[in-house]
Amino acid sequence: MVKICCIGAGYVGGPTMAVIALKCPEIEVAVVDISTPRISAWNSDHLPIYEPGLDDVVKQCRGKNLFFSTDVEKHVAEADIVFVSVNTPTKTQGLGAGKAADLTYWESAARMIADVSKILCTNLWSAELSKLAANAFLAQRISSVNAMSALCEATGADVSQVSHSIGTDSRIGPKFLNASVGFGGSCFQKDILNLVYICECNGLPEVANYWKQVIKVNDYQKNRFVNRVVSSMFNTVSGKKIAILGFAFKKDTGDTRETPAIDVCKGLLGDKAKLSIYDPQVSEDQILRDLAMKKFDWDHPAHLQPLSPTSNKQQISVVWDAYEAIKDAHGICIMTEWDEFKNLDYKKVYDNMQKPAFVFDGRNVVDVKKLREIGFIVYSIGKPLDAWLKDMPAVA
Ligand SMILES: NC(=O)c1ccc[n+]([C@@H]2O[C@H](COP(=O)([O-])OP(=O)(O)OC[C@H]3O[C@@H](n4cnc5c(N)ncnc54)[C@H](O)[C@@H]3O)[C@@H](O)[C@H]2O)c1
Repeated sequence: MVKICCIGAGYVGGPTMAVIALKCPEIEVAVVDISTPRISAWNSDHLPIYEPGLDDVVKQCRGKNLFFSTDVEKHVAEADIVFVSVNTPTKTQGLGAGKAADLTYWESAARMIADVSKILCTNLWSAELSKLAANAFLAQRISSVNAMSALCEATGADVSQVSHSIGTDSRIGPKFLNASVGFGGSCFQKDILNLVYICECNGLPEVANYWKQVIKVNDYQKNRFVNRVVSSMFNTVSGKKIAILGFAFKKDTGDTRETPAIDVCKGLLGDKAKLSIYDPQVSEDQILRDLAMKKFDWDHPAHLQPLSPTSNKQQISVVWDAYEAIKDAHGICIMTEWDEFKNLDYKKVYDNMQKPAFVFDGRNVVDVKKLREIGFIVYSIGKPLDAWLKDMPAVA
């Protein structure tokens, strides 16, 4: 029987291996990790991460051809194929701090593999650059369409129509062309920063600057969103309740790493807003920790992260229901494209809000026309502006 071992039972290793086990019953899959609590969680009824259907897949395979274990050496030694999916955070100190990848965890995994099994060699730099380039190209598409969204708002164009038009060109293709409040997730920013660092180390500042711009546009998009919120609401959100719908970096996950919601919430908190945050899959503890954490801290082990969750707790409440978050709010910011946000009873939502009632849709999920008919003032990224917003400066 072919045996696979995956080192790292995280967001990547766990679900990927569970699906391989499901689809390939003839293969035995072991997922190993140095974290005992993580492995215990994978072996329990409360898996450490959420993805739709993951519980079922694990239940079907666990104990048959899918195993979770802390006995790393044993499973690596027995395996025909070894996957490594350990964390590779951005360095926070030393050479390349803030940009280069911290390969401590990777190196320790690689040394262990070298000790217990054979290694095949390929061209190292091709392998490294392919991974970085794939993520950089994807992130670049998002920043490109987000840059267009700002121009669409300024001119009266509709970014969805522009995306649809250019997506019909087979050289461009329709995927990854949705405008939004910005990209997030554990890899895009980190891999681009790493690419920038490699370019700089190789004496290629122009190339480094080119890729840096992809991140700058992403940061610009998040700032632009906060500015729209503040400037639309009479140039002040101080003391106003704002509902934050969604916190994860995309729908169908509880993953909040580099989620644009963090920067948007921090921006609004900086302007003294009161936030009521709801995400169907993210815990209060996670949200408070994310809002207290410094840049890049999230990708380091828990014992290196801040102990006290947050200093601005008075301004933040985390609730378990969208309607509760919205009650008496002046505005709603949609940060994640969860399906349930498309199907809320917006008449009921409107009736329970302060007036004028604002919706700032960072994911273009709501039916703008319908909401405006109910009475909302709606801002939708890259779409023709509400009459109310037209008279407001884009920057607070
Ligand atoms: N599309 C992509 O390219 C993409 C997307 C997401 C993540 N990633 C990459 O995949 C890797 C894993 O990401 P993740 O989100 O699953 O990380 P994660 O933090 O969720 O999980 C990593 C796990 O590795 C474990 N670990 C660390 N060192 C170990 C060691 N020496 N032996 C055994 N276990 C060890 C940790 O305890 C942790 O549970 C990262 O390098 C990340 O950059 C790539």
